[in-house]
Amino acid sequence: MAVSADFQDFVDEVLERNDITEVISEYAKLKRVGSRYAALCPLHNDKKSPSLSISPDKQLFHCFGCGAGGNVIHFIMAMEHLDFMDALKYLADRARIPMPEQGSSTDRKRREETMDKKQKIYQINAEAARYFYRHLAGDEGKDAYAYLKERGITNATIKMFGLGYAPAGWTRLLDYLKEKGYSEHDVFEAGLAKARDNGSFYDAFYDGRVMFPIINVQGNIIGFGGRIMQENSNTGKYLNTPETLVFKKKENLFGLNLAKNSKAGRMLLMEGYMDVISLHQAGINNAIASLGTAFTPEQARLLKKYTSKAVLCYDADDAGKKAALRAGDILTEQGFKTKVLTITDGKDPDEFIKTKGPEMFQVLVEGARPLIGYKIDAIKQHYDLNDTEQMLEFTEAAAGVLSEINNEIELELYTKQIAKEAGISPDTLSTQVKVLRRKQQQVKERQEERKERKNFEERTGGRRDLHEMGLKNAERLLLNFMAEEPAVMKKVKESGLTAEDFTEGIHRKLAEKLLACPDDRVDGNALLEQFSPEEIGVVAAILLDDKNTENKKEASIQPLAKVLDAKQRIKQAELLTNDDLHELDKMLKQKEQEKRRNQTWKTKNNPQ
Ligand code: GTP
Ligand code: MN
Repeated sequence: MAVSADFQDFVDEVLERNDITEVISEYAKLKRVGSRYAALCPLHNDKKSPSLSISPDKQLFHCFGCGAGGNVIHFIMAMEHLDFMDALKYLADRARIPMPEQGSSTDRKRREETMDKKQKIYQINAEAARYFYRHLAGDEGKDAYAYLKERGITNATIKMFGLGYAPAGWTRLLDYLKEKGYSEHDVFEAGLAKARDNGSFYDAFYDGRVMFPIINVQGNIIGFGGRIMQENSNTGKYLNTPETLVFKKKENLFGLNLAKNSKAGRMLLMEGYMDVISLHQAGINNAIASLGTAFTPEQARLLKKYTSKAVLCYDADDAGKKAALRAGDILTEQGFKTKVLTITDGKDPDEFIKTKGPEMFQVLVEGARPLIGYKIDAIKQHYDLNDTEQMLEFTEAAAGVLSEINNEIELELYTKQIAKEAGISPDTLSTQVKVLRRKQQQVKERQEERKERKNFEERTGGRRDLHEMGLKNAERLLLNFMAEEPAVMKKVKESGLTAEDFTEGIHRKLAEKLLACPDDRVDGNALLEQFSPEEIGVVAAILLDDKNTENKKEASIQPLAKVLDAKQRIKQAELLTNDDLHELDKMLKQKEQEKRRNQTWKTKNNPQ
C-alpha cells in the first residue's frame, strides 16, 4: 500500500506533467507579457482587461479580479467545480498518469471520509431505487403503474429510467433500509428521510409517489424526483430530494447520463422529467432537463463538456417562453450556439410527441429559430408594424436585441433583415445599435471596476490609510523575496524579524511557514498545501508579485527596513498613553491632508 511520501510523489508528478500555461490555455486565450502570461480570467466574467496572470516559472496563477489563485490543481478545482481529489484525478487523466491505489496526507483522511460518505449515499439511493422499482411492479404499485401506462410509458422505458413507486407510509423505506444495515441518520443524509424536532425520522417520500431516479454522468443515483398521481392543492406536483452531499440541483441535469452518449451533436433542453422520458422513448436520445429549477450557468458548463449546441424545447406557455429566454442567455454566455423550438401542438414536448410522433418532432427541431431571431420575433408580436410610431418602438427594441450579438456577420445579417422589414436604412439601425453597445459597455465596465475594487479592498483589509498600505505592500514584497531567494531569507532571520512582526493574519501565517523552511529553501507546492482554499488566492498573489526584480537580495533592503521600522514603532506605541495616541492620530491626519493638498495642487498644475 502506498504511503504518504508516495502520494506526495504522485501529486508532484501530476503538477510536473500538467503545465499550468498549457492547461489554462485550454480555457482562455493567453498573451505573453514579459516572463508572464495574461488572460481574460475564465473563472469570472472578465470581459474588459486581462486580470489573470500566470507565471510559467513558478507554475502559479492569480486573478486580481476575482481573487482566485494557486497552482494548476487549484485552477482546475475552481474551473471544473471539483474538490481536490477529483481535480487531481482530472489532471492525472489528462497526463495519462494512473491514480495510485491509496494515498495519505493530513487532509487525505478527511477526503476519504467524504468519499466514503458519498459512496454510502449512492448505495442507499441504489437500494431505494430498487425498492421503488419493485413496488411499482407489486400490488401497491398498481395505480402508479396504470398511471404510467396511461401516459404511454412502456415497460422498457420504466426499466431504462429505473422508474418506481414509493408506497404511502411514514417509515416504509426507513424500515427497509434499516434492515439492510443503514442507520436512520445515513438515510437522512441521503435525503430520503426527514427529521422531526423530537429526533425521530420519517420517509421523505411518504405520500405515495411515482419515483424518478436522478442519475449523474458517472452513473450514480444522486437523488429522486417524486410525482403525485393526482394533482391537488395540498402538495406540489413534484418533490425532489433536498440538497445533499451528492445532490446539487443546480449542477446536474436529468437524462444527461443517457444523452451524453448521443451522436446528435447537440442537446435538447426541456423543462420536465416527463418530456425527457417521452423523447428517449421515441428514440430521441439527446433530451435533458434541469432539476425543477431554472437552468443555471453551472449546468451550462457541465453541458459544455459534451456539446456547444443546444436547442431549447420549453413549454408553449408564457412561463416556458420566459424561461427559454433566460436559459438562452445563460447558454450564449457560456459560448453555446442556441436555438429555440416552438411547440405547435400541445403544451410541451411530451404531449407533442404523443400526438404527432417523433418524425414531426424532428421537423420542429430542424425548424428551431436561432435565439436572436426568436427574440426579435417575440418582441415583434407586441407591435403593430403598420403603425409608424409602433414601428419606431419596434426598431428600438430590436436594436436592444441586436446589441447583444457578439458575432459581426450575424449582426450584419440581422440588422439588414430588420431594417428591410421596418423600411429604414441598415446604417441608421446599425448606428442605433452602436450607441446602445457603447452604453452597455460603459455600464458593464463600471460594474466590473466596482467589483474589482471591492475584491481588492476585501483582500487587503480595505484599509485606505496610505501608511498602512505602504507597510502591507512592503510585507508582501518581503514575503515574496523570502520565498524566492534563500539569501533574503537568511538576512531576514539575522535581522531578528519573526512571523509575529507581520501585521496581517495571512502574512503572519505565510511568514511562519516560510521561516520554517529547512535550509531557507522553499518548495512552493508544499507551501501552498498548508493553506486553506480561501487563503490560497492571497498567497498565490503574494508569491507571484515579484515586481520583476532581478537582484532580490539588494531589493529586499527597503521592504525589510520598512517592516523593521514598523515593528519598532509598534513597540513604542505600546508604551504610549491615550493622550499620546490622540496626538499621534491628529498628526497623521494632518499629514494626510497635506499630502492630499499637494496632490490636488499637482494635478491642477500638471494637466496632462
Ligand atoms: P408532467 O406534469 O407529469 O407532465 O411533468 P412535467 O415533467 O412535464 O412537469 P412540468 O412541465 O409541469 O414541470 C417541469 C419540471 O418542473 C418538472 O419536471 C419538475 O422538475 C419541476 N416541477 C414541477 N412542479 C413542481 C413542484 O411542484 N415542485 C418542484 N420542486 N418541482 C416541480
Ligand atoms: Mn408535462
